[in-house]
Amino acid sequence: MSSKKILVVGELNIDLILNDIHGFPEIGAEKLAENMEFTLGSSSAILASNISALGISTSFCGLLGEDNFGEFILEELRNKNVDTRFVSLSKEHKTGITVVMNYDQDRANVTFCGAMNELTINHIPWKNITEFDHLHFSSYFLQPGMQPNIVNLFKKAKEAGLSTSLDLQVDPINKWDFDYKNCLPFVDIFLPNENELLNLSGKNNLEDAIETIKNYSNTLALKLGDKGGRIVTDSEDILIKPYLNKAYKDAIGAGDSFNAGFLKKFLEGATLKECLDFANLTGSLNTTAAGGTGAFGDAKEIEIKIQEIRNNKL
Ligand SMILES: Nc1ncnc2c1ncn2[C@@H]1O[C@H](COP(=O)(O)OP(=O)(O)O)[C@@H](O)[C@H]1O
Ligand SMILES: [Mg+2]
Repeated sequence: MSSKKILVVGELNIDLILNDIHGFPEIGAEKLAENMEFTLGSSSAILASNISALGISTSFCGLLGEDNFGEFILEELRNKNVDTRFVSLSKEHKTGITVVMNYDQDRANVTFCGAMNELTINHIPWKNITEFDHLHFSSYFLQPGMQPNIVNLFKKAKEAGLSTSLDLQVDPINKWDFDYKNCLPFVDIFLPNENELLNLSGKNNLEDAIETIKNYSNTLALKLGDKGGRIVTDSEDILIKPYLNKAYKDAIGAGDSFNAGFLKKFLEGATLKECLDFANLTGSLNTTAAGGTGAFGDAKEIEIKIQEIRNNKL
C-alpha cells in the first residue's frame, strides 16, 4: 500500500436512478418504473471511492446540506474508507440530487445542484494542506462557487508542495468558459475526454485540439472511450488501446475510474506509460458492473479482476 495521500475536491450528490420505465414522462400522466436505485452519485465521489478501494489514502473536501441525503453520502464515503473530516455541512442549502431516467443506452437526467453550487476556495483545508501529497479537482462547470478562484486553487496547492490534477467534465450550458491558459500550467495531470478537449479548444479535430491545449498543459491524459487512452507531454505521445472485456455492462463512471487508476500509479511514482496502462485497466474494470463503483469491491477482488482483464479472461 502506498503511503501517499490524496485530497479530492469536488461536488457531491445523490443519484436516484429509475429503470425500465413504461414510456417517457408526460405532463399530467403517471408513468411506472419497474426498478430503481438510490446511490452515491457525482464524478468526484466515484473517483474518491475507487482510488480509496485501490489502496490510496483518500480525503474528500466538499459541501452537503444538513439533511438525510447528506447523511447518506457521508455514510457511503466512510464505507469506502474515504476520510470525510473536510466535508462541510450547510444549514442553508440542500444536498444535490440527480434523477436519472434510464432508457436502454440513453438517459434523461434532471439535476438539482443544491449545496454543490456553494463550495468555495475557503472550504479547502489550507491549514492541513501539507498532510496531502496530491490535490484533485473535478466537475468545474457544476461548481460556480469555485470558478472565480480556480487558478488560485491550483496555484496555492502547488505552492504548498502538492502535485495536482483536474477533470473538467462536461459543461451543461455548453459555453466551456474555463481559463485554461492561466490554469493548466498549475495542473500536473489534465484528464479530459475527447469531447471535452474538442469543446474546450474550440477545434473540430483531435490533433488540432491537442496542439492547442498542450501549449499550456503539463501532462495531458486523454480518455478515448473504447479507443483507450493517450498521454501527450512536451516529450512524449503515447497511445494505449483499451482492454476490451466481455463482461461489459455500462460506461457510467469509466472516466472517473480511469482517473483513479492513473492517479494511484502516479502517486506511487510509476512512469506515465505505466499510469496510462493501469488507467485503461481500471476504466475497463469499471465497465464490468453497473454504475461507477460496483466493480470496485475489496482489494483482493479488484486485483483478481484486473489480472483477468489484462489476460483477456474477463
Ligand atoms: N467499452 C470499453 N471497454 C474497455 N474500456 C473502456 C470502455 N469504455 C471506456 N473504457 C475505458 O475507460 C476510459 C474512460 O472512458 P471515457 O468514456 O473515455 O471517459 P468519460 O467517462 O470521462 O467520458 C477509457 O479511456 C478506457 O480506458
Ligand atoms: Mg468524465
